[in-house]
Amino acid sequence: MSSAAPSAVAPWIRIVEASRHVGERVEIRGWVTHRRSSGKIAFVVVRDGSGQMQTVAGVKDVPEATWATITELSQETSVIVRGTLKADTRQVGGVEMGLDHLEVVSASGEYPISPKEHGVDFLMDHRHLWLRAQRQSALMRIRAEIVGAFRDFMDAEGFLLVDAPIFTPAACEGTSTLFETQYFDEKAYLSQSGQLYMEAAAMALGRVYCFGPAFRAEKSKTRRHLIEFWMMEPEWAFATLDDVIALEERLLVATVERVLTRRAEDLKVVERDTSKLALVKAPFPRLHYNDAVRMLHEKGMAFEWGNDFGSPDETEISSRYDTPVFVTNYPAAVKAFYMEPDPADPRLCLSCDCLAPEGYGEIVGGGQRMSSLDLLTRRIDEHGLPQSAFEWYKDLRRYGSAPHSGFGIGVERTLAWIAGIEHVRESIPFPRMLYRLAP
Ligand code: 4AD
Ligand code: MG
Repeated sequence: MSSAAPSAVAPWIRIVEASRHVGERVEIRGWVTHRRSSGKIAFVVVRDGSGQMQTVAGVKDVPEATWATITELSQETSVIVRGTLKADTRQVGGVEMGLDHLEVVSASGEYPISPKEHGVDFLMDHRHLWLRAQRQSALMRIRAEIVGAFRDFMDAEGFLLVDAPIFTPAACEGTSTLFETQYFDEKAYLSQSGQLYMEAAAMALGRVYCFGPAFRAEKSKTRRHLIEFWMMEPEWAFATLDDVIALEERLLVATVERVLTRRAEDLKVVERDTSKLALVKAPFPRLHYNDAVRMLHEKGMAFEWGNDFGSPDETEISSRYDTPVFVTNYPAAVKAFYMEPDPADPRLCLSCDCLAPEGYGEIVGGGQRMSSLDLLTRRIDEHGLPQSAFEWYKDLRRYGSAPHSGFGIGVERTLAWIAGIEHVRESIPFPRMLYRLAP
């Protein structure tokens, strides 16, 4: 038995800070992930949301009743454990606890998710529990790091956070993916993008960004599409396409660097090949749409000039580079109504998509916004949108218009790329997909 009375209180720490407390007696509050015991020694692995730690108890280290409890602990039982920490390089986090006290907070019944393989549908049905898995928790921590990196970067660049509404009266990214809802006596739509509101805010505040959920009623069932996803959208007054491309590049470099330094343990848990991320350094290559099309043709791919790139096309283009690649000057016809025409070729527009390497495809979309009130009016008609819903937006071109540009970056696709996961469904706590609205 250790010198302290076994039940004596000890400071409550989190597992992530355990390496700073080696040699000290501490308390950890968490859940049992697994347990094994022989007649004399028991190993109880505990997780507390910040990490996972092995604790060890000898039959003589704890009271008899505690030993009995330990040998019957089931997976996901919530517990409070106390003991002295010692360095052990074989353990994740490099620390192990010599247990002298364990109390059950609440027992766990037969836990549905066992270490054996489960199908994806089963896991998705149990997403509320699946989040507790080591890999899923690591992904959520990396996600939070990315969100933090985005916001800190924009704040440091002098952009002001301005929140955009979710209920909107009109389409932003095309009518085909609108979610309609009743707003008292009128129809409203769930926001596809905060961009139009950010354009107004940029004319008030110069450099702004919004960060929130976006909704797209996409009937596509791919590993890149969610129905509800999170997007950060900076908008910058007096900036051109080149300015926002440079901003995107700095943002992506800073984000990857931050995740590599602050989430190294979590990247290990998800088995990310970080040597690939270490290559993400400026400058990123920049490819004109026409050159990207030529590249596909040289590869023998049947791609028709004027179309938008599909997933296989994006994969082919991006697989040539170690860093993200910017594809610019898309045909106006495949982009939203608000894109500024390319002065060099009016069939094209001043747009830019950023494609992530390793086949992850588009993670950022953006461009320079249309300046001409007349052309904007025409485009709104061509896209079958009601002029009345856009009068306020057109005001931005009537009263001291200024060139302005911006982009939207999706959190889930960025996370899928940085963490190296196959499908965006694991990149958001509770995914909304074509055939999934629960839990
Ligand atoms: O290219 P998108 O549709 O651009 C816009 O919404 C612009 N209004 C942005 C702007 O300029 N302010 O979307 C931007 C990004 C995509 O590159 C992708 O990362 C993400 O948002 N995204 C999705 N992520 C998951 N599932 C979907 N269905 C997504 N649609 C877009
Ligand atoms: Mg896009």
